[in-house]
Amino acid sequence: MGLLNCADSGSGEPIVLLHAFPLNRNMWQAQFEAWSNRYRVIAPDWRGFGESSLGEEEFTMKSCAEDLRHLLQHKNLQEKVTLLGLSMGGYVAFEFVRKYQELLRSLVLVATQAIGDSDAARQSRFETAEFVRTRGTAALADRMIPRLLGKTSLETTPHVVEQSRALICSNSPEGIARACYGLANRRDSTSALQEITVPTLILVGVEDVIVPGIQADNMHKGIRSSRLSIIEESGHLINLEQPRVFNEQVLSFVQEC
Ligand code: MLT
Repeated sequence: MGLLNCADSGSGEPIVLLHAFPLNRNMWQAQFEAWSNRYRVIAPDWRGFGESSLGEEEFTMKSCAEDLRHLLQHKNLQEKVTLLGLSMGGYVAFEFVRKYQELLRSLVLVATQAIGDSDAARQSRFETAEFVRTRGTAALADRMIPRLLGKTSLETTPHVVEQSRALICSNSPEGIARACYGLANRRDSTSALQEITVPTLILVGVEDVIVPGIQADNMHKGIRSSRLSIIEESGHLINLEQPRVFNEQVLSFVQEC
């Protein structure tokens, strides 16, 4: 696997943004606009997403963490990074922290969870892989958006609905299908929580139906150095649904660390 494609802009302390499934680095546009005048903001496309090639190897949370390590090495960063992962990005962040915590200044876990999939959830991932291969990304967007976005966004912000749809449709069906297997086969990271020693901010949307608040509470209890913040009127995609609140909360945390 070659280097991941990534957006990289600004200078200063590095903030690395890890995208959710089935989106890509372009989900972070508002964060690039808000932060790159003070920070170096880096956001990769996972293999098979956006403009990163699919590669030969299996898509796993571990392979993504290694791809990320390879990318950061290539960037030759002199400073420790703030690593921010949203949902699947958080699952990869757990794998990264297990091996490379010394590279981190702080961690932000957004709309994510430490637990692995139940058997039923795994089955549904395999079905999603088949669905996107046969029906394509637009059909997948129709199916997923009502769960990815919160009730408030679905009812009041059609531009966020359209933005989410465009992000999903800009990925390849095969990239998405392979990631379904990676998600289904990820390990439970609950035991890794106690190993996290860097300052950690946990964000969860009140209207998130994919990662319920209880999972954010459990991460908060498991990570000694963590703080939990609950975001009103947001579903799963907090940075798209509540960009102003998201940016403020993350930035004030980064400034304190
Ligand atoms: C994501 O946003 O990355 C996915 O919803 C993760 C998941 O389905 O577990």
